[in-house]
Amino acid sequence: MTDSIVFLNGTFMPQSEAMISPLDRGFLFGDGIYEVIPAYDRKMVGFAPHIRRLQNSLTAIGINLDWSEDKWRQLLSELLRQNSGDSLAIYIQVSRGVSPKRQHGFPDNIEPTLFMMCYAIKPPVNYDDGNHQGLHLVSQQDLRWRQCHIKSTSLLGNVLHYQSSQDHNVDECLLFNEAEQITEASSCNVFVVKNKQIFTPSLDSQLLPGITRAIVLDLLRTHTDYQVLEQNISLQQARSADEIWLTSSTKNIAPAITLDGEKIGSGKIGKTYKEVNSLFNQFKYDY
Ligand code: PDD
Repeated sequence: MTDSIVFLNGTFMPQSEAMISPLDRGFLFGDGIYEVIPAYDRKMVGFAPHIRRLQNSLTAIGINLDWSEDKWRQLLSELLRQNSGDSLAIYIQVSRGVSPKRQHGFPDNIEPTLFMMCYAIKPPVNYDDGNHQGLHLVSQQDLRWRQCHIKSTSLLGNVLHYQSSQDHNVDECLLFNEAEQITEASSCNVFVVKNKQIFTPSLDSQLLPGITRAIVLDLLRTHTDYQVLEQNISLQQARSADEIWLTSSTKNIAPAITLDGEKIGSGKIGKTYKEVNSLFNQFKYDY
């Protein structure tokens, strides 16, 4: 296998040569943030909103790395140019940097560590082709921290939720808070369709402001007559939904067909999903 090319602190290099100190606060504390940007045939989806969210996450945790969009675009294009593959995720991670010693407080005068790599993702799945089933979900109480709007590398809560869905032999978990309202999935946002209305939880600190979510909302509002509502969705509403979709940069829009072993709607991939997915494939590079 050929070594992929990564970017670490200003230098492109083979992945096998990239080394980070064990005193990096990303390693010691999960003290960092990240982004995942999809690129198909070297074209990125949602470059500008991903970079804006990266800046928001940096500001939220007090890391100063105020690069222009142009600078990011240049670096990411170069990273894509140096790596092969038609369906890639660009991963960007910024940690607070290397500590002189292990201490909780922010050390003075350290430089952030910036690491970027590409990895292969599945090309967009066509759930219409008869070869792909929809996803199966299990509901779980959301046990993560209360700042899920920050795209933090401290993902242990998400990792444990995801692994538990795998242990239940399903694809993802549908997370709900103490009030039994849906937040998101372990690595995706959630949409619910009921009687020609499309719902997604409104943005707050319990969920990530997903870029795919934002694109889907914009497409629905611009190109369809559906009523689109950002508001609380109870677990009970999810159980009686006609359709549920998950959205993320690596899954695009994925329809779910069961929740806790019960069919969602007809238990088949829904017609609204097919409409929105075709809009997404048509317009995704406009974002
Ligand atoms: N995850 N919610 C969570 C908790 C996520 O981790 C993600 C994405 C999303 C969807 O956001 P977006 O549409 O911007 O990808 C929602 C990425 C893909 C990951 O961690 O690999």
